[in-house]
Amino acid sequence: MLSGRMKRGLSWLSDHASAEPTHPKGVLEMDMAENWLVRPDVLPIMKDAVELNLKQQDLSYSQELGGPPGLLQVSASFFNHFFSPQVAILPEHLVTSTGCASILETLIFSICDTGDGLLLETPMWDGFAVTSTLRNNVRICPVRYTRRPTNAAEFIQHYSEAMKNATCPIRGLIVCNPHNPLGQIYPTVWLEALLQFCETHDIHFISDEIYALSNFGATRCSQDVSNPDVVIGLETKFTSVLAIDLKRLEVDPARVHIAYSTSKDFGSSGFRLGYLITQSNPGLRRALAVLNRFKVSNISSIAVAALFSNLQTLETVLNSSKSRLRIAAETLENFLSFHQIAFYSPVAGCFMWARFGGELATKETDAELLEKFAAAGVAVAAGSKFNSGEPGWFRLTFALPWKVLIEGLRRIEIAMEAKRHWIPEKSQL
Ligand SMILES: Cc1ncc(COP(=O)(O)O)c(C=O)c1O
Repeated sequence: MLSGRMKRGLSWLSDHASAEPTHPKGVLEMDMAENWLVRPDVLPIMKDAVELNLKQQDLSYSQELGGPPGLLQVSASFFNHFFSPQVAILPEHLVTSTGCASILETLIFSICDTGDGLLLETPMWDGFAVTSTLRNNVRICPVRYTRRPTNAAEFIQHYSEAMKNATCPIRGLIVCNPHNPLGQIYPTVWLEALLQFCETHDIHFISDEIYALSNFGATRCSQDVSNPDVVIGLETKFTSVLAIDLKRLEVDPARVHIAYSTSKDFGSSGFRLGYLITQSNPGLRRALAVLNRFKVSNISSIAVAALFSNLQTLETVLNSSKSRLRIAAETLENFLSFHQIAFYSPVAGCFMWARFGGELATKETDAELLEKFAAAGVAVAAGSKFNSGEPGWFRLTFALPWKVLIEGLRRIEIAMEAKRHWIPEKSQL
């Protein structure tokens, strides 16, 4: 009783992306990309806003396209304050929807036709494939490295090769910056080169900046460049694509689009509020506004409008979130170093990419390890979910309340059958 396309979609889903895991009761979830450390500061602001501002009118449909004008106004100020755009962001550059995923799905629908492709580096968040393929039937054409690029020219070379090897028309590329799952940041000159690559090939540039304000900077461990188990990134400070001078690069701003949401930086994935920012493409803005009409709940709008309306308080909230994220990341780095597990030292986000399976890992040993984690009562995200070419890698969330984090790491030691036991420093969270 399903349409042909839905049957094809479900069959693609079972082959390529795992259905969301349902964890047995009591499993400690370290596989979910969520920031619990900012929640104590965000929740009271949201609660008060709903208590004070929810009116009868809010029980009606929101009439405006793109989002309620009040929300768009404070959101524009929020982006102008925190993303340092070259061109000031106006409410008419924004569209709201139910999270970043919904923005991406409708953006891809609006710029690609069935059978088109988008370039995307691996490892990658599996949701990119779902938002591209499940409804839109747009393919992800992976950009893979065997050796990590060390400069912009090498970086672009990988994109050129992926473009050449693609068996479908390429309509654009997606860059996840800060990166999920690596937790690292692209050097701005690489982004500039990639923007010019898009201009040359007449394709769209989609920048997913959902972790933008979770940029906590270099950790203690990243100072130790002599440790061969630690992959240190080239950049520590996030620069939004909005802050790049497209005029100087001779890049048409109509091809540049940013996706953002409150899910990660504000620990509010349940509120489902995301944004498209596109500053010179009114046709595309209108397309997304129509596709996302009536999607965002007025309660979420009220809560987020209150959060964004006091930028000074928000600055304090974000600074304290970043220092907690850094402490939690350093704790996990300390644990991994103690057990001689290789990892990417993150400068942003709420998780870490770590090689629990070791260098000799195979698909089979990864599956066994995943079962051992589950048996020890801890859920860890497998690298295969992120289209990682190299076995052994897993993604682990560290942005958890201290007791939960330490208990999760204790369970991981059980799963690894560790002979030596790590002792955490005193909690600073
Ligand atoms: C890179 C990236 N983009 C988008 C999303 C989806 O965000 P949202 O909850 O706002 O739909 C996620 C969620 O994990 C993500 O990691």
